[in-house]
Amino acid sequence: MKIIAIANQKGGVGKTTTSINLSACIAMEETKNVLLIDLDPQGNATSGLGFTPEQGTSLYEVLLGKESIKDRILPTRFEHLSIIPADMDLAGSEIELAQTDDHLTRLREILKPLKRKSKFDYIIIDCPPSLGVLMTSALAAADELLIPLQCEFFGLEGLAKIVHVQEQIKLSGANPKGTIEGIVMTMFDGRTNLCRQVVDQVRQYFPEQVYDTVIRRSIRLGEAPSYGKTIVEYDKSSHGSTDYMSLAKEFLRRRA
Ligand SMILES: Nc1ncnc2c1ncn2[C@@H]1O[C@H](COP(=O)(O)OP(=O)(O)O)[C@@H](O)[C@H]1O
Ligand SMILES: [Mg+2]
Repeated sequence: MKIIAIANQKGGVGKTTTSINLSACIAMEETKNVLLIDLDPQGNATSGLGFTPEQGTSLYEVLLGKESIKDRILPTRFEHLSIIPADMDLAGSEIELAQTDDHLTRLREILKPLKRKSKFDYIIIDCPPSLGVLMTSALAAADELLIPLQCEFFGLEGLAKIVHVQEQIKLSGANPKGTIEGIVMTMFDGRTNLCRQVVDQVRQYFPEQVYDTVIRRSIRLGEAPSYGKTIVEYDKSSHGSTDYMSLAKEFLRRRA
């Protein structure tokens, strides 16, 4: 079982879209079981998958040691996909956790029982867009970091920053084996030179990490969450659906 954090401290780069659709597309392969953890108090992955964020359903109490993680796992309409939703309480854990000595490794400890014994092949964590306690604890818990990167100039600056943070967490000893497994270029628009230049440049610096699959800009991808649907449910014939199916295949191939 592998824990994958989908993170980038920048907002609006496609973290949640990638978390939802990659999870669903892997689960649709039918041989793998996925648990999607929504760790962003905004709850976009929760609502994007058709759940209403409700108080008392997130990892918040679990992080504070008051509840067991097993009680927070909900089934979804995909047989092989489960979810732990987010709620606004999670925002409070930024402050409450920061006051504890072990805040960096708490999530890691909580996930350990699932690592030892559960049906899940992958736990995918949708991270909030800030370098707070929730995101850093996700980086400390994750075997692998998957970074969605928007095809724009400032995307590169953000990349340098998250790579640095991941390195610091490694050096702190909280997660010595954590790796940057992948970088997924999102919102690609082939009509602009800048887009292509950014992709080329990121590939130069991170030849191993950048996925061959590039997620194109697609209006349908923007629409799907407002119906609480994944892109494969909302419009299977769209670019977005094709791209995320191919991302899931590449994800599994890289681990075969
Ligand atoms: N490939 C894409 N094409 C078009 N819109 C996208 C694409 N990926 C994400 N979006 C939209 O862009 C916005 C930000 O994406 P989101 O996944 O929520 O980013 P993050 O979680 O990093 O903040 C959302 O409205 C989402 O629907
Ligand atoms: Mg998000």
